[in-house]
Amino acid sequence: MTKATEVSTQAEGTSTQSADRSTQAGAGAPVRVAVLGAGTVGAAVVRRLQERSDLYAARLGRPLELVGVAVRDLERERDGVDRSLLTDDAESLVDRADVVVEVMGGIEPARSLIERAMRRGAQVVTANKQLLAQQGLELEALAEECGVALEGEAAVMAAIPVMAVVRDSLAGDVISSISGIVNGSTNFILDLVAREGVGFEEAVRRAGELGYLEADPTEDLEGLDAAAKIVLLARAAWGQPVTLDDVRRRGISGLTDSDFHDASGMGGVIKLVASAWRSGSPERPRVEVAVRPVALPREDPLAQARGGANVVIIEAESAGTLRLHGAGAGGDETASAVLGDIVRAARRA
Ligand SMILES: NC(=O)c1ccc[n+]([C@@H]2O[C@H](COP(=O)([O-])OP(=O)(O)OC[C@H]3O[C@@H](n4cnc5c(N)ncnc54)[C@H](OP(=O)(O)O)[C@@H]3O)[C@@H](O)[C@H]2O)c1
Repeated sequence: MTKATEVSTQAEGTSTQSADRSTQAGAGAPVRVAVLGAGTVGAAVVRRLQERSDLYAARLGRPLELVGVAVRDLERERDGVDRSLLTDDAESLVDRADVVVEVMGGIEPARSLIERAMRRGAQVVTANKQLLAQQGLELEALAEECGVALEGEAAVMAAIPVMAVVRDSLAGDVISSISGIVNGSTNFILDLVAREGVGFEEAVRRAGELGYLEADPTEDLEGLDAAAKIVLLARAAWGQPVTLDDVRRRGISGLTDSDFHDASGMGGVIKLVASAWRSGSPERPRVEVAVRPVALPREDPLAQARGGANVVIIEAESAGTLRLHGAGAGGDETASAVLGDIVRAARRA
């Protein structure tokens, strides 16, 4: 991500748009915010932007003006989202914003809309972990070229501000490893098996019924979601161009009841652990990344994660061991991180 403190460099072809922006969003003028998506996360973001408009105006010294919300289906009722804000023309909406908030998910049209926003000089906030893991390096380069921010705290562990800790708070330290339970859906399943003795297949079925799994549960069960998050953390920690191909990945779908019996017999529990660690020197770090089911002793801090909770442990040379724990999903929880990014992005607008 482009750091908030970086000095903007004016890219060729963006000067006209940026000049427009500076006249519209000068001192005291509203910062125009466009939200792309009004699902679980987008609707929560929109509600909070409206409820907290006075608070944000006081914090920023200028108001945040919600100029529109892009969706596919204009007819659907959306709790707390004013119909007059909705549009199915996301491109035009992007063109009217100083800060574009992408919470639609998927690769396209999310990527094209983000590129369009950047080329017009708008700051970008996204919660889209797959897009950032697959194409974040190119998008970061474009953000740099256009002199705008690309903020993505919500993409990794939702409400838990782990990207800021790894990238900014520990920027002067030397991180040696990061490991965590970063996927709440699989943790819910594994916890159900370990603590309630539910069979593995039954636990997967219950997780689906309770809405913990996507219609296509592959992303969670095969560790793809966890892989995207650990790639983003590794990039932030060591500044290396780590990709999804670098991840040694094994999900939980191949586990059997006898794996759980064996782990339990040894006083342990199985968790899906995402980890990244540095090999090589601090000056020339080589980064290893993995996602795999691991049998952990019950007293291990990662084994303490209950239900859909997330936990991450960071080891750094001077800071020692840091542990962050909290909600890794949910509309309001994810909105907390998105809103933080919006406020940060608005300071640059
Ligand atoms: N849910 C979480 O707990 C969570 C946590 C962390 C990160 N995230 C990330 O946040 C993003 C959004 O997740 P979500 O759970 O809010 O998804 P969601 O509930 O499926 O909502 C997606 C929204 O985007 C809109 N949309 C999708 N494609 C569109 C298009 N082509 N044009 C216009 N609008 C479009 C949808 O419109 P319609 O409503 O009209 O279909 C919907 O309002 C994803 O990248 C996800 O990975 C989610």
